[in-house]
Amino acid sequence: VAQTTSGLRSLLSNPLVYDAFQSVMGASRGRRFFVDEVIRPGKGARILDIGCGTADILGFLPPGVEYWGYDISPEYIESARSRFGSRGVFQCGNLEVTGLAALPPMDAVLGIGVLHHLEDEEAIRFFRLGKEALAPGGRVITIDPVFAAGQNPLAKYLISHDRGRNVREAEGYRRLASEVLPTVRGTVRHTRWIPYTHWIMECFS
Ligand SMILES: C[S@@+](CC[C@H](N)C(=O)[O-])C[C@H]1O[C@@H](n2cnc3c(N)ncnc32)[C@H](O)[C@@H]1O
Repeated sequence: VAQTTSGLRSLLSNPLVYDAFQSVMGASRGRRFFVDEVIRPGKGARILDIGCGTADILGFLPPGVEYWGYDISPEYIESARSRFGSRGVFQCGNLEVTGLAALPPMDAVLGIGVLHHLEDEEAIRFFRLGKEALAPGGRVITIDPVFAAGQNPLAKYLISHDRGRNVREAEGYRRLASEVLPTVRGTVRHTRWIPYTHWIMECFS
């Protein structure tokens, strides 16, 4: 995992600091948009969140959604368990294809802010895993910071100082997804408070 963990950015390993930082960055509005406009979960949808962090997104998903979250950080998983209890299943570790046997087919596999932490090979493994996990008609959905022409200079500055060391241009993310999934729809989203630029992909098998 390519991640900067030195200096001030090491504080973000703490779940409370991470959630507070996300809140300052306007994450709630972003998560609301992401759930309502991109995930659009149907009644009783099954969702697998790879690199779920503190599983903050679960607070924005409607009741009845079945949720599984995986993350390599024990602190984040502990925080998710204490906040959400039995609303989801939270597991610490690297999810492998063999682990999918224990899970039902998923309507959506999420990678929220994860790809930019992964080297190309790991990112391709993420998409392979996602593809295996999907129910017919399901989607792998990702969102990450992106370098884009014309983006606000402050957005570019913030993104270039992200902990994740693999922020890419849109085509870089798209190429990785397309190695595994035949149909990839992508959108650049600019936000004004605080200036930031995201790349969102919906991938279908
Ligand atoms: C920027 S955080 C995003 C967390 C969460 N998805 C959110 O929306 O707040 C990236 C997360 O990916 C996790 N991560 C990185 N590599 C991973 C891997 N190979 N498997 C599972 N989680 C991973 C990190 O521990 C971290 O929690």
